[in-house]
Amino acid sequence: MIKKPIERAFNEQIKHELESAYLYLAMSAYFVGQALDGMAQWMRVQAQEELAHAMRFFDSIHDRGGTVDLAALEVLEKTWGSPLSAFEAAFAHEQFITGKIGELVDLARREKDHAADLFLQWFVGEQIEEEASVSKVVDLLKRVGDSPQGLILADRELGARSAPTNPGSGGGE
Ligand code: FEO
Repeated sequence: MIKKPIERAFNEQIKHELESAYLYLAMSAYFVGQALDGMAQWMRVQAQEELAHAMRFFDSIHDRGGTVDLAALEVLEKTWGSPLSAFEAAFAHEQFITGKIGELVDLARREKDHAADLFLQWFVGEQIEEEASVSKVVDLLKRVGDSPQGLILADRELGARSAPTNPGSGGGE
């Protein structure tokens, strides 16, 4: 049976993950408006991954006899000054999420909840990948600078990102 403080914190994390999905969908819409369809696709896939992250917490609460209590979602941001600033905001957001995962691990250890600790270790590894993949795009866009041709090539490259096979299962990453 899941303990109440862990159940509460996992429910909060569902909100953070779904707000991440919302943020990346907003970025996807922003990129569509900029005629950068490759970047729009990249962010659309990222949003699907965030839904999968939320579903892992959703399933874990149920698997351990807890209750999912969904909270209202906030729209964190809707517009950015440039593709680079959008990806920089995404990187800052991933760092925020990494901090939240760290807090959850600390809580699981304080509560001596070994099952939660084990479950969270997947997210510790995933956040390394999440930060690395966004940071790679930030570096790419810094190299592109003001070059319109470079931006078109970067957009094409980022558009090659494919969707997870089953985003709702909690297993897509
Ligand atoms: Fe679910 Fe991108 O962190």
